[in-house]
Amino acid sequence: MAKKFNRTLVTSALPYANGPVHIGHLAGVYVPADIYVRYLRLKGEDVLFIGGSDEHGVPITIRAKKEGVTPQDIVDKYHNLIKESFSELGISFDIYSRTTSDIHKQTASDFFLELYKKGEFEEKTSEQYYDEEAAMFLADRYIMGECPHCGNPNAYGDQCEACGTSLSPTDLKNPRSTVSGSTPVMRETKHWYLPLDKHEAWMRQWILEGHKEWKSNVYGQCKSWLDMGLQPRAVSRDLDWGVPIPLADAKGKVLYVWFDAPIGYISNTKELLPDSWEKWWKAEDTKLLHFIGKDNIVFHCIVFPAMLKAEGSFILPENVPANEFLNLEGDKISTSRNWAVWLHEYLKEFPNKQDVLRYVLTANAPETKDNDFTWKDFQARNNNELVAILGNFINRALVLTQKYFDNKVPALNELNDYDKATLEEFANVKKNVEGYLDTFRFRDALKEAMNLARIGNKYLADTEPWKIIKTDRARVETILNLSLQITANLAIAFEPFLPFSVAKIRRFLNIENLQWEQLGRTDLLKEAHELGETELLFDKIEDEAIEYQVQKLLDTKKSNQAEIKVEVAPQKENIAFDDFTKVDLRVGTVLECKKVPKADKLLQLLIDDGIKQRTIVSGIAAYYQPEELVGKQVCFVANLEPRKLKGVVSEGMILSAESKDGGLSLVQPLKEVNPGSQIG
Ligand code: 2FM
Ligand code: ZN
Repeated sequence: MAKKFNRTLVTSALPYANGPVHIGHLAGVYVPADIYVRYLRLKGEDVLFIGGSDEHGVPITIRAKKEGVTPQDIVDKYHNLIKESFSELGISFDIYSRTTSDIHKQTASDFFLELYKKGEFEEKTSEQYYDEEAAMFLADRYIMGECPHCGNPNAYGDQCEACGTSLSPTDLKNPRSTVSGSTPVMRETKHWYLPLDKHEAWMRQWILEGHKEWKSNVYGQCKSWLDMGLQPRAVSRDLDWGVPIPLADAKGKVLYVWFDAPIGYISNTKELLPDSWEKWWKAEDTKLLHFIGKDNIVFHCIVFPAMLKAEGSFILPENVPANEFLNLEGDKISTSRNWAVWLHEYLKEFPNKQDVLRYVLTANAPETKDNDFTWKDFQARNNNELVAILGNFINRALVLTQKYFDNKVPALNELNDYDKATLEEFANVKKNVEGYLDTFRFRDALKEAMNLARIGNKYLADTEPWKIIKTDRARVETILNLSLQITANLAIAFEPFLPFSVAKIRRFLNIENLQWEQLGRTDLLKEAHELGETELLFDKIEDEAIEYQVQKLLDTKKSNQAEIKVEVAPQKENIAFDDFTKVDLRVGTVLECKKVPKADKLLQLLIDDGIKQRTIVSGIAAYYQPEELVGKQVCFVANLEPRKLKGVVSEGMILSAESKDGGLSLVQPLKEVNPGSQIG
């Protein structure tokens, strides 16, 4: 039997307070969570919406060090910026607090202690890098050294950014501490581990059997984690920024940020409701939902539930509607490359257009796969949908009522067949929008709400009241009465999505808040009810505003390119001249060139080498079209053992070098030379 819930607790991922929030965060987490919460409130349900900043973790300490300030300075700055910009966008948290609050530190510390006392942790000692000069253990990001794979001398302890390989600090050659520059030494350190392996059995049952309704991206990720087998995870770190481990033998150790952050949801609830928070976290009839992005799935579906279960008195999440990622103009959003649309900047540059952003991010939300935000699409959705459909319909209904009926709702007279058919279409909207919202399909829900405006637009366009006002006033009364009822319905259907515009529509209609239950009714406005003043609901966004944004991104791209430090490969060992002369380097002319079937990267070239025609296969298909190479001179190694590549025998190798944009550039003689001419 389906569980009966009496209240819903909605949490949204706590963003790190080391930078502002961008459209990726919004589309992935905060806009959908806010839509859902507003929908429940409109239905009169008991709901709580918890937010806050995640203020611990190594990246915040690194940023502080770089800027020469304290970690607290960093989080103060960004917490306030984030909080204000969320509020301006209408993200309607019941509380937006932070993990540096006293109540959080106490709650997280107590939570750890409770698990510790219950024997839910394993203690393990391992060796880790220690900086003797700075007298501290080093987080992976604080260690640099030579990448064992590509030789990059500046690889980090967790990753080499030149070749993308994941590393652990002990993989690095010649490691050095970025704190003091000294060579770190290995030293023993003790940590507390949550033995996730011990939680695997109930978790398999709970998720894989009990929550098949979870979104497929979420369920799939959980299944693959569980199938790989869970491992114990350390919940402590050697660091001086975070919640101190409340044990005598844990000096210099804090809770791992991913242990304390989700407890932030609990602390923030406590801060808001000191007397009644427990029913939100412990009563079986509370539905707990975590809105997050896909990179947080394992922490919310596996690690945090294991913590809650280990504690013993908490409920588990009923659903975790995680989204995929939003890209920007075809590229991954990146804080460090400044490739983002920052919320606080948007709010400044597009004043009073909060709903436009909310609309576009929902219409294009990365619900089941990664999606792309483009400024062109932003403009098109505003101009062709919000202005041309929703705004246009409402404006026409209101202006006509003003003009013909002194701004009062006219009578609803006899309905003709066309009216009835229109009403039938519109009768399904409530059921459809609800069905989508209940299953976290916000894009479809929005489309359905927009459909209601389309129905209204079509109704006015087909009935053309302005043409019959002189001849059939009674008919026009009915048409406008129905159009105004549709407008009132739009004020319900759009409230979760476009709260600012709906507040305006309510002013135009001179009505109070409506309830979700009233959606679909045609008696929301009584005859003779006086309407309020009207203005345009949305304005067109002109090309200049879009060009400005596109230019801003182009400038970012340019300055990023200028900053890319080319990782020059270290010079190889010296060789004898004789060794060099063994390599037969020559110039040839390309006679023919084509793609190699079933090999995306390869081109097959026929070369005039002065003696004969030879075939060479080269991995340059991503950088050159076959036709542009015909007639060009290229350099090649002539005496390389022939090799078969995808079924084609390659007699030599064409010389190329990495180009500035990271692609490949063929190497050519500066003047034309005879085919077969030797290089040396
Ligand atoms: O990925 C992030 O931005 C994390 N700060 C999310 C934390 S969610 C929760 F656990 F607090
Ligand atoms: Zn590397």
